[in-house]
Amino acid sequence: MNSQTPYILDSSPVSYAIGSGALEYSERFLEKFPRIIVLVDENVAVHCLPVFQKRLPAVVISGIINIQAGEEKKNLEASKYIWSELTRMKVDRDALIVNLGGGVVSDIGGFTAATFKRGLQFINYPTTLLGMIDAAIGGKTGIDFGKYKNQVGLFVDPKSVVIDPIFLKTLDDKQLQSGFAELLKYALITDLDLWEMLKGIKYNQITEWNKIIVKAARDKIDIVKHDAFEKGIRRNLNFGHTIGHAFESFFLMKDRPVTHGLAIAAGMYCETYISSKKHGFGCDVVNEIVSMINLNFHHLDISHEQIPELFEIMMQDKKVRGGKLQFSLLKRLGKTVHNCEVDDELVKESLYFYIEKRACSEND
Ligand code: GLY
Repeated sequence: MNSQTPYILDSSPVSYAIGSGALEYSERFLEKFPRIIVLVDENVAVHCLPVFQKRLPAVVISGIINIQAGEEKKNLEASKYIWSELTRMKVDRDALIVNLGGGVVSDIGGFTAATFKRGLQFINYPTTLLGMIDAAIGGKTGIDFGKYKNQVGLFVDPKSVVIDPIFLKTLDDKQLQSGFAELLKYALITDLDLWEMLKGIKYNQITEWNKIIVKAARDKIDIVKHDAFEKGIRRNLNFGHTIGHAFESFFLMKDRPVTHGLAIAAGMYCETYISSKKHGFGCDVVNEIVSMINLNFHHLDISHEQIPELFEIMMQDKKVRGGKLQFSLLKRLGKTVHNCEVDDELVKESLYFYIEKRACSEND
């Protein structure tokens, strides 16, 4: 058994157990429920479910629902499958759904639980880095519909979130790198200490995952506690995402998908440049951030000729207001402002800065 003590936060309505030992600690969250149904995807079923069962031998699982892995499967078909399995198993409202997996599992699992018989309780057990520091926290649930991501869904809190870094061992390099982009984002937008811990390190050389995950998860909890419904400071989490989402969609449309993290890292590169121009911080800071991104992520293959296409995609973004792009931008390292209107010309300049791999110079 693991004797480490996780960080515990009993902040109503959600209880959190974060860090090594969280899995064992969570037994007390589960024992209150007469029936436990576990939702997994095909990869989690192989790599993570055995860990869950081994660490929690006293927990009786009444049913396992196994869905196909991947964002493209986060859809109505998969939701229907989950609802029909719950119906077949005669699940009632006393049951608990355990969402064991990454962001896709917590999104669709939360959505289907919250809508089945007007609401089943669920607990998120994230197994990816992205899930641990972001997707499992904050009550965003939903599915993709048509060609739009997260088009149908609702904000609904899990009963608990159990974040145990033990599952990081099951991740491949690509998934770890992808989650690392969001980790960098937390450091940049709100947590200078985290930035100091990460600076100059490659994602695949980190040894202190436990400390880092506890820190980043607490950063996110703190933000969503103050703004559950994304009316204000939760928008700060969009740093790097206005341009990053455009990169992500662009490559998806070309049938050359890139990970969310690679796209967001490129978005943060461009939006750091925009931040420096809007908020007047120096090139030393821009170059410090850009070199950390370059150390961890390769450059996306984008050319000047493709900029109009990227603009077209950006204008479809949920963050456009009155035909103007809205950004969450750095004011300085560790501090962010949301709802910043940015002229197209400056956005274009930032894309040149990225494409040409220029260093920031005070003479620009
Ligand atoms: N992933 C951004 C948010 O939870 O608001």
